[in-house]
Amino acid sequence: MCCGIRCRVYLGIIVTEMVVEKIYLENIISVIIRDAGPDDLDAILAVEESSYVQPWSRNLIEGSLENPRAFHFVACGGTESNVHGFILNLLLVDELHILNIAVGPSFRRCGIGSRLLETSLTTAQKRGAKTAFLEVRRSNIQALTLYIKHGFKVIGVRRGYYSDNREDALVMKKSM
Ligand SMILES: CC(C)(COP(=O)(O)OP(=O)(O)OC[C@H]1O[C@@H](n2cnc3c(N)ncnc32)[C@H](O)[C@@H]1OP(=O)(O)O)[C@@H](O)C(=O)NCCC(=O)NCCS
Repeated sequence: MCCGIRCRVYLGIIVTEMVVEKIYLENIISVIIRDAGPDDLDAILAVEESSYVQPWSRNLIEGSLENPRAFHFVACGGTESNVHGFILNLLLVDELHILNIAVGPSFRRCGIGSRLLETSLTTAQKRGAKTAFLEVRRSNIQALTLYIKHGFKVIGVRRGYYSDNREDALVMKKSM
């Protein structure tokens, strides 16, 4: 985000207005989205651990990266190895399951999560996906807002799904 001060003169009186304009970071530094591979494991784990109270383990992420039915993307800035965010997906016949998405805390609200999600939806659609599903904590407003913005709707609730605090998971679906 970028803020600035603008002055206007009305009938000889100087009026000062605060101007708030949204400037996406990805328009300032170039962020590329590329396929993720085994070499990205450490970087993905670092973003994961900075994003969740109960992060996925190294083994779980590694297993997902090696799953032949899965496909994944990372968002990189500056150099191809500078990973700011990732998304892990599973394609089961015509269903896309979004397993995990995270953007490093310093790079959030810059459009990176949207680009990762859009890239996954487009790729899955090209590979035959008709529907996308995901689960999200009821209290995770930023993720919920992101998904709603991209056309997902809540279709169910898994009561007490998360083991750390027995929080409900909302099940969301998007038809493609
Ligand atoms: C959810 C997450 C991936 C979003 O990534 P991001 O790069 O910040 O998302 P974007 O910048 O593309 O935001 C897209 C939209 O999401 C919504 N959004 C994102 N952050 C938000 C926030 N803090 N508050 C409200 N809405 C928010 C907005 O609608 C936003 O659009 P806008 O900026 O035009 O208003 C990121 O917050 C994150 O990594 N969170 C921790 C991990 C997590 O919870 N993952 C989801 C698990 S289900």
